[in-house]
Amino acid sequence: MDSLLQQFAFKAKSRTINDLFIGSNRADKFSLSAAGLYLDFAKQNVSEDELALLIHWAKKLKLEHKIQAMFNGELINNTENRAVLHTLLRAPESRQRAILAEQADDVIATEKRMAVIVDDIHTGKMRGVTNKRFTDVLAIGIGGSFYGCKTALNALHNYCTQGIKVHLLSNIDSDALSEKLAFINAETTLVVVISKTFTTQETLLNANSVKQWLLKKGVNKQALAKHLLAVTSHCDKALKFGVKTKNILPMWDWVGGRFSVWSAVGLPLAIAIGMEHFNHFKQGAWQMDEHFQQADFAENMPVIMALIGIWNRNFLAYPALAVLPYSHALRAFPGYLQQTDMESNGKSVTQQGEKLKSSTAPIVFGQEGTNGQHAFMQLMHQSDDIIPTDFIIALATSNSYQEHQQVLFANCLAQAEALMQGKSLKQVTTELLNKGMTEQDASRLAPHKTMKGNTPSNLLLLQQLAPKSLGALFALYEHKIFVQGVLWQINSFDQWGVELGKQLSGDVLTSLQNKTITSSSSSLSSSTKKLIHQFINFTSVNKNVD
Ligand code: F6P
Repeated sequence: MDSLLQQFAFKAKSRTINDLFIGSNRADKFSLSAAGLYLDFAKQNVSEDELALLIHWAKKLKLEHKIQAMFNGELINNTENRAVLHTLLRAPESRQRAILAEQADDVIATEKRMAVIVDDIHTGKMRGVTNKRFTDVLAIGIGGSFYGCKTALNALHNYCTQGIKVHLLSNIDSDALSEKLAFINAETTLVVVISKTFTTQETLLNANSVKQWLLKKGVNKQALAKHLLAVTSHCDKALKFGVKTKNILPMWDWVGGRFSVWSAVGLPLAIAIGMEHFNHFKQGAWQMDEHFQQADFAENMPVIMALIGIWNRNFLAYPALAVLPYSHALRAFPGYLQQTDMESNGKSVTQQGEKLKSSTAPIVFGQEGTNGQHAFMQLMHQSDDIIPTDFIIALATSNSYQEHQQVLFANCLAQAEALMQGKSLKQVTTELLNKGMTEQDASRLAPHKTMKGNTPSNLLLLQQLAPKSLGALFALYEHKIFVQGVLWQINSFDQWGVELGKQLSGDVLTSLQNKTITSSSSSLSSSTKKLIHQFINFTSVNKNVD
């Protein structure tokens, strides 16, 4: 990492963020607008000089060239030899044709088919076994085939006006399955299986169980296909599963799972909010894409957020990032970001396979405000760990409870301020003495009430949570994560780290099914073998559980 920046960081660690405000119009200088979003980063522990140096460093690492390489479809996912072109799914048709040539026909045709399917469901042209209209959609998928839809469905709840209830099933735990099936009616339920690979264990087992449920509930074999849709890049596998060709929407290897909500993976969302709003969601993202490609780095929101993130992570050595949307509708956003950020950048070798000397992705966690204030934020205020934070809030509320919005907004600003300002031992002691406490009592209590402060934060302000602003918000974080990957020189678009667990679960499963430790499990630890035996013994005694 850049040695001059390291020297600056050394000094930055011994100053307070408060100091940076003195004599500076920081609120103006350290804020940006793009694609309908406003970013206030004045409460970051970074000076103008340091920011300029970070920008210079990014330029030295040819960030501009790398951004264009992604948008132009170069094979930047080098371990899988793939382009990274999810941005094209929200781009104008002319651009899709310029980059994809003949393949653009397939992409455009898929968008049109998706719109027809959405329309057919809404108008009742598409019907189930008993010729009744579909009232419910059960979408089955996990990871990237789940989080984007889940987050957007929550966020755009007020736009779900189509009268179709959309349910998402991801976890393999049968409790999740039975919870969903308890509230839906087979004859009026359309099932959408979403899996890029169509090999994901959880999704396939859930899909098979739901298929059995449909059959058990009277959807006969001949009519089963009327209830099935699939989104996948392996159409052959979906066909084999029993989905009709006309009901399979393709995706392409240049769309990574965690960046796929813009493709037909977003079908459940489009069904819920309608195609027009779904297109607005994509347009908002494309606005952010254009900003990202065109704005100078000093005014480029994803670049600035990425650089500040690296400053916090690598130069100031802060290990985590808290994401706190002050919005009930955005309550799933921290979970979505955990996947997008940590699955992308949780790496420790460069694109060339060399061991990195610096850390990469922070540990991302969070919850909607104000709930987090009554939980983990105690640690953020008083432990020794400094946790940089992204606050997200909208100015407008979608309902008439204005007082709630005021209180929510006040709490959001107050937390950012409290994290930054803290309260020194001296301040606390004076306060206690002023309240009439004895010196002895005040000095005993004061350390417990001291707040460390100096915790940096961003505040992202939306006018209103709407399809466009949500699209822009998603794209902002996608690009921030990409920029950080470029500067760490890692491949943000593979996820080999998930493979070992998948392989070992297969080994364990074989033993569970054979009711004995099979050769595939022989290299497992004695601890795991003992646990396997406990499961086998338990299930053989409790046959009904088997
Ligand atoms: O968890 C790993 C992962 O491969 C994710 O990257 C992906 O989004 C998810 O599994 C689901 O994969 P698929 O869409 O192929 O079922």
